[in-house]
Formats: sequence, C-alpha cells, structure tokens
Amino acid sequence: MSIQAKIDTIIKSVGSINIQDFVEISNFDKDSGFYNKPNIEKIGKDGQFMTSPEISSLFSMALTNQFLKEFPKVKNVNLLELGPGNGILTLDIYHYLKSKNINVNNITLLERSDYFKGKIFERSDVEFNFIENIYDYEIDNDDTVFIYSNEFFDAIGSKQFIFNNGNFNEIKISRENNRYFLIQDSVAMSGELIDRYSKYKFKNNDILEHSNLILNILSDIQNLNCKNYFFTTTDYGYTKLPLKSTLRLLSSHKKLDLFDEFENVDYSFGVNFELLKDFFISKNPQIINQKDLICNNLPNEYLKSSNKNIREIIELISGEKFNDMGQVFLNLSFKKDGTISKI
Ligand SMILES: C[S@@+](CC[C@H](N)C(=O)[O-])C[C@H]1O[C@@H](n2cnc3c(N)ncnc32)[C@H](O)[C@@H]1O
Repeated sequence: MSIQAKIDTIIKSVGSINIQDFVEISNFDKDSGFYNKPNIEKIGKDGQFMTSPEISSLFSMALTNQFLKEFPKVKNVNLLELGPGNGILTLDIYHYLKSKNINVNNITLLERSDYFKGKIFERSDVEFNFIENIYDYEIDNDDTVFIYSNEFFDAIGSKQFIFNNGNFNEIKISRENNRYFLIQDSVAMSGELIDRYSKYKFKNNDILEHSNLILNILSDIQNLNCKNYFFTTTDYGYTKLPLKSTLRLLSSHKKLDLFDEFENVDYSFGVNFELLKDFFISKNPQIINQKDLICNNLPNEYLKSSNKNIREIIELISGEKFNDMGQVFLNLSFKKDGTISKI
C-alpha cells in the first residue's frame, strides 16, 4: 500500500493524523516508507539528498581528529554510530583510525532501516553489529567509545504545536474532498510545554516543535553503560527556537511543499541544539558550527591547499551554503566526564 493510502486510511478512521506520526510513517513504514523502500537510492548523487560524509572523507577525518584531540593517546577504540545511512562515515573513520595504528575493536551501528542495513552489509568486509535501540548497546571491553552521528536527529519525528491565546494546540493533517489541510486540536500537554519552554514569550500563531522521541534517545545516551566515551553529533538546526515550522521535504535534491508528493520523499526537521545542550548540561557540552568543526580539525595540508577540488569540497562540507533563516549546520560534543577542552 502506498504512503498516501496509509495516511488516508488513518485520516478516514480517526479524522486526522499528527505531524509526528505522518513523518514517522512516511520515513519508516516497513514497506513503503522512504528509508525502507527497496530499489530507491536515498542518499548521495543518485539519491534524493546529499550529506557531508557522502561528499568527501575529509568530513570523517575532521570528526575523528575532534575525537583524537580529546583522547590523544588512545590505542583501542569502539565505534558507535547513530543513523549511519549508507555507512560511509563509519567506514571512513575506521580506515582513518587504522592509518594511525589505532585498533578498532568493535563497531556498532544504530540503524532502523532494513534497506540501509542491507546496503552496509553488502558494501563492507568489516564486521558490524546492528542495534535498534541505544539501550541494547553492550560492550565487553573497557576501550574508549567514540559515538557520533550526522543528520540523525533531523530524521526523527517531532510534534508541531501552535500557540493560541495562552495555550498550545497540536497541528494535525486532515482531508476533505481530495484536499489535505492543517487543523488544530487541543492537547493535555499544553501546560507542560509552556513550563518546559518558559524562557520564550510565545505570541499567537508561533509554532513549537517538540519531540519526545528525541528526548527518549537523549535519555538512552545519558544512561549508556560504558567507562569512557566521546560523543559528537552534527545536524542542521538552531540554538534559539525559530517559532515556525522547520519541516523540510526533499525529493530528487529539490525542496517540496507539504502535500506536493507523498512517495519517495525525505522528511526532516531542524534540530533543537538548545534542547540537546540543556539535556547534557552536566557534561559541559560544546556547540560549534560545522565550518569550525572542519577548520579546527582538518590538517593544514587540506585547509591551506590551493587545489580547486579540495577547496570546493571544504566549502561544501563546511555547510555554510545551506545556512537559511537562523538554521545552520551545528556540532555538539562532550566527553562522558564533562572535561572537553574549549577551543
Ligand atoms: C538523514 S539520514 C543520515 C544518514 C547518514 N548519517 C549520512 O549522514 O549520510 C538519517 C539516518 O538515521 C536513521 N534513523 C533515523 N531515525 C532512527 C532511529 N530512531 N533509530 C535508528 N536509526 C534511525 C535513518 O534510517 C538514516 O540512516
């Protein structure tokens, strides 16, 4: 059954569908969801959108050097990637660590899509463990764990709420006479949202995106049972609430409007880095933009290169081309013991 037919069935039976469920079904439905559907390239030149690891291995080099600055003497490492997609980032990190004579003793990937699991399996002769939940991560050695993600949190569904006369209503999708439209529904969690985001003065029609799915993942990271780790995550997002919808639809590298198309569309949200930072505040997290991540961590032979290709790659993976209305590519990192060095 197509995504549109599945969405229509839900709307017919209960009158509407909320934005989080709509995005979760569109992205992750077992048969027709964008991330599971077979035979459709998803990420890369021939896919629907591009990501930094797919542009060049210089991205993985910068990320690994960010880790190595914190653990300069490390000899044995476990890798844990959240949302690896085609798996290129982990393979590049693995080879880069190997080139520095650092042993990679375990590689674990949190991946929900069977399509990507198959793809990674096909492509690599390196051994991976797949997990579906972070709390399933078990490691039987004391090696430092390097945990990383790129454009992982932006693929996770968020609910959308609209402020109206002192309350938040939830935004939902409904359909009548073959036309889709947005409606507002009152919600019990309005007061909880007002408390949680109390530093903001909301005005009528301001939009708030909030994801308990992301909060659950953050709790799982917080509860990770390993001796020593470094966590770094890069995503497109913001450090102040934009108070508008950040939902983006991409198909064949083009932006679409909501309801333009239902099949083979990638849905993503801007990521709330303020929430991430507040969540891990006891670990002293550091937020930098992706340009600084690249410029602070790539070797000078690349940064100072006059080679046109390298210059173009660095410009692309710095992410600045994609800055848009308060949203930029950002990176948040911390160490388990909260002792990350300031730049
Ligand atoms: C936008 S893609 C990014 C892929 C890759 N990191 C890259 O930069 O090319 C998002 C990835 O996160 C995975 N993902 C999203 N939500 C997930 C979840 N709740 N659990 C596991 N994987 C998830 C998707 O299947 C996909 O591999």
